[in-house]
Amino acid sequence: MLILAIESSCDETAAAVVRDGRQVLSNRIASQIPLHQRYGGVVPEIASRAHLEQIVPIAAGALEDAGLSLEEIDAVAATRGPGLIGCLLVGLEYAKALSAARGLPLAAMQHIAGHLYSPWIGRETDAWGEPVSATPNFEPMIGLALSGGHSSIVHVKGPLDFEILGETLDDAVGEAYDKIAKLIGLGYPGGPIVDNLAQEGDPKAFDLPRPLLNRPDFDFSFSGLKTAFARQVEKLGGADQIAADRVLTSDLCAAFQAACVDVIIGKAEKALNEKGLKRLAITGGVACNKGLRTELHNRLPDVHIALPAPEFCTDNAAMIAGAAYHLIGQSAQSSLSANAVASLDLEAGGSGWQA
Ligand code: KG4
Ligand code: ZN
Repeated sequence: MLILAIESSCDETAAAVVRDGRQVLSNRIASQIPLHQRYGGVVPEIASRAHLEQIVPIAAGALEDAGLSLEEIDAVAATRGPGLIGCLLVGLEYAKALSAARGLPLAAMQHIAGHLYSPWIGRETDAWGEPVSATPNFEPMIGLALSGGHSSIVHVKGPLDFEILGETLDDAVGEAYDKIAKLIGLGYPGGPIVDNLAQEGDPKAFDLPRPLLNRPDFDFSFSGLKTAFARQVEKLGGADQIAADRVLTSDLCAAFQAACVDVIIGKAEKALNEKGLKRLAITGGVACNKGLRTELHNRLPDVHIALPAPEFCTDNAAMIAGAAYHLIGQSAQSSLSANAVASLDLEAGGSGWQA
């Protein structure tokens, strides 16, 4: 089955064609990073307008890269939520128009479900490193979706069957990376820049808190860590002072990263133990993080760890097409009156996202 999927929930206009929930035939992404860079974060109105300009060429480009025409596509999918409402509307309405014009089934998808599915796409083996048969070997697991908009820890029982164990109470982890980077003048998005600088720094140079790590639940909080970082910056003489000193900057980045990594791995381990599972998937933009990847393997040697390829960590439409394959397989279909939803419930599951 060939699915053309559209993703436009935040600042990436993306379209992809995926065969049978796994084989990525094309994966086009128009990033808006340069448009938002000067503001240090995504400006919703600018994002919606850019999606409008990009959606038609990006979708056409995805078909062209796959060497397919619209007549050969079996179904269309689009992210319905959660996300920025004006941005979601562009992708969803485009997919609805295609569905109506061509008589194709339409799958309305939940963005986090796409992230949690991302380790299963575009590789020769399955997410666990084992050879694949026609259908992905989707074992129950703990899945983390860590991005600029979300920090969720989820018991993933099936590709469309979720129990949320914990979420962030305030900032998402990627958002905290972006904000501390902005504070010390490192640019946007901050995650990759802080990650690279952290490789050079001493994580023990500064003692930053590990918020909620010792609590029995699975919720995250990154706002207090961000504030502690800001206080440390003040103590050191302010952002300008730090910007001029590469060693200090790297040490601060390393200390911040160590705190994030400790909290993420600590909560993941607790969830694995509680559910008696040995499989863990880390997804979303922050899953690119080099420090996190290294420490996961060091600290959880007995756990099967699934990580998406870097191009499927940040927002993309291939992950949406991959998850949509399972929905279309259940013959759930979205009505053309389905509207975008800024906060679409992950636990509602495939059919719950359609009405
Ligand atoms: O998944 P994504 O593209 O968008 C959302 O759905 O939010 O994630 C983008 C986020 C940004 O906050 C970015 O700073 C962060 O992921 N990010 C990273 C890294 N690469 C991207 N954070 C930490 N380390 C990285 N290497
Ligand atoms: Zn995302």
